Amino acid sequence: MKQDMIVILDLGSTENTVIARQIRDMGVYSEIHPHDITAEELKALENVKGIILNGGENRVVDGVEIDVLPEIYQCGYPVMAIDHAPAKCEQKYDSIPDEETIKSFIFDTCKAEANWNMKNFIEDQIEIVRRQVGDKKVLLALSGGVDSSVVAALLLKAIGNQLVCVHVNHGLMRKNESESVVEVFRNQLNANLIYVDATERFLTKLENVADPEQKRKIIGGEFIRVFEEEARKLEGIDFLGQGTIYPDIIESGTKTAKCVKSHHNVGGLPEDLQFELVEPLAQLFKDEVRACGVELGLPAEMVYRQPFPGPGLGVRCLGAITRDRLEALREADAILREEFAKAGLDKQVWQYFTVVPDFKAVGVRDNARSMGYMVVIRAVNTIDAMTASIARIDYDILEKIADRITAEVPSVNRVTYEITKKPVATIEFE
Ligand code: XMP
Repeated sequence: MKQDMIVILDLGSTENTVIARQIRDMGVYSEIHPHDITAEELKALENVKGIILNGGENRVVDGVEIDVLPEIYQCGYPVMAIDHAPAKCEQKYDSIPDEETIKSFIFDTCKAEANWNMKNFIEDQIEIVRRQVGDKKVLLALSGGVDSSVVAALLLKAIGNQLVCVHVNHGLMRKNESESVVEVFRNQLNANLIYVDATERFLTKLENVADPEQKRKIIGGEFIRVFEEEARKLEGIDFLGQGTIYPDIIESGTKTAKCVKSHHNVGGLPEDLQFELVEPLAQLFKDEVRACGVELGLPAEMVYRQPFPGPGLGVRCLGAITRDRLEALREADAILREEFAKAGLDKQVWQYFTVVPDFKAVGVRDNARSMGYMVVIRAVNTIDAMTASIARIDYDILEKIADRITAEVPSVNRVTYEITKKPVATIEFE
């Protein structure tokens, strides 16, 4: 292992990630583990230099004050305890100590080296993955999103063609998105990639379905069925790769923190498909995942991609999806993205996209009255997607986008700009 590590044991703090990030910022790798980790599990982490017992407001679970196992103190690592973590150690603090104190603990007491960087992280993960997987095969659902793309690149580097990627095109991807997954992973990186064009199957299932929740259910359910069918065709797969990242774990609830929302990265695969999980990004924050992708040589468009919902354009083609309206939406979205990139807005605006409602409006084309679709542009800024503000886009840019969309997408005769904050609106329309 290349990197030294400080282990934070979660004794009910809400600030584990704050400390982990602070220590990583000091150049030392830090991982958060549950309070009931065993001495054996701790030793298996190999390069542990010290432990921080991090107590806090969730210290009492089911009426009992939680503690680490007594054997942890016998492992011989330096221990620091914060916020009434019940510790038999020298260094105890009532709240998170200042930076100097943490630094002194890490570097003077634990004698850790500041050797945390992406290169070392990747080398360590490659070693861990190779040890876990041996000569077996790993299956990965490669959506083309940031997390799954970075996992794919990392696993590819670790185990080469023992990795089998499956990309399901549900027909609701943005323009050229599936093509770029195939181009990057199959053609450039030589990955073992199975490309499934399931467009017809998804669009047929979605015909006449107008309810947003119903649409989401169909898309999610069908995705699992297609993926499962592909998995059953393959022989000798023992592992499933997942792009789980650290915030997914926190939001799904740890042993002391309550569940915010449950994350299903592959969306509840059936139980008779028995795989062991490989999750090499599970300790990374989003910005670190991107840095990892850059280090692995993935293209910037892939690594700095804006968020895109799993159900894709399906929730932006409002109401019952029709093929012509979906096509208009896809073309309008491509024009919007192109113009945003030209104006440098792609680096300034957090999320921007188009939506097409399920009605037609009156317009004039070639001196005659005609009916056409309306494209709504939405562009928002946010930190955590819980609240969002409107991006103030220059009118000249908006006008140029409107001109291009109405000229290049003949079924559209109106373009509007959406100006509602979240709340009261949500970012997406469905
Ligand atoms: P809302 O519309 O809830 O969106 O304000 C917040 C953020 O979440 C994204 N989003 C989704 N992502 N599956 C996803 O993976 C979904 O069903 C979904 N719905 C919304 C949305 O794009 C925004 O970034």
